[in-house]
Amino acid sequence: MVKMAPSVLSADFSQLAEQIKIVERAGADWIHLDIMDGHYVPNITFGPLVIAGIRKITHLTLDAHLMIENADAYLAAFQEAGVNQLTVHVEACPHLWTTIDKIHDLHLRAGITLNPATPISLIEPILHRVELVLVMTVEPGFGGQRFIDAMVDKIAALHKFKQEHKLSYEIQVDGGIDETTAPSVVRAGATVLVAGSSIFGVADIAAAFHRIKTAAEMAKNGESL
Ligand code: DX5
Ligand code: ZN
Repeated sequence: MVKMAPSVLSADFSQLAEQIKIVERAGADWIHLDIMDGHYVPNITFGPLVIAGIRKITHLTLDAHLMIENADAYLAAFQEAGVNQLTVHVEACPHLWTTIDKIHDLHLRAGITLNPATPISLIEPILHRVELVLVMTVEPGFGGQRFIDAMVDKIAALHKFKQEHKLSYEIQVDGGIDETTAPSVVRAGATVLVAGSSIFGVADIAAAFHRIKTAAEMAKNGESL
């Protein structure tokens, strides 16, 4: 099964609880939370206060993607707000080993993410210590951008490394995922799909969710639409 992690970045925040319930009923596995500070990326979203509210209305795994500087200073606050896992950018964490240890010390799953231009060789020495690797398939900061096709090879390389070293990290893909791009990333080895605008940016959220999920499962089973 391919896991689905809808990103609330594209949700209607005046109806956030209702929209999360829609994807929960449709079969979402995780809720993806994009945390932006206006420094590491040129956009500002939300923080622990809003997440604590989301925690009250769903039992789904809360998957926080930190696009912030000085992440170490905020890890505990996100844990207290109720997230289940924290993913940090290798480009924004000068002491990545320590950051991953801190996330684990908080009893959370740890993830590392790579911008499109960042090679996986940079994180190979630490891949045995994380539960998740997030491949950005757009530049971080905004929803609704175009999927960068060249990232499919990076996903395949991460999948190969995982198999060769008998590791078990999830390979999550984020940016421009819809029913047309999901099949190629799943065939390359992606195990978790983040999708924002293609789910929350359309009128029928549940139908959009099912279209992407179906396309992903068919690709996993070697079928084509
Ligand atoms: C972008 C975020 C994504 C965003 C994806 O920086 O990390 O999670 O929500 O949006 P779509 O699916 O619209 O590309
Ligand atoms: Zn994200």
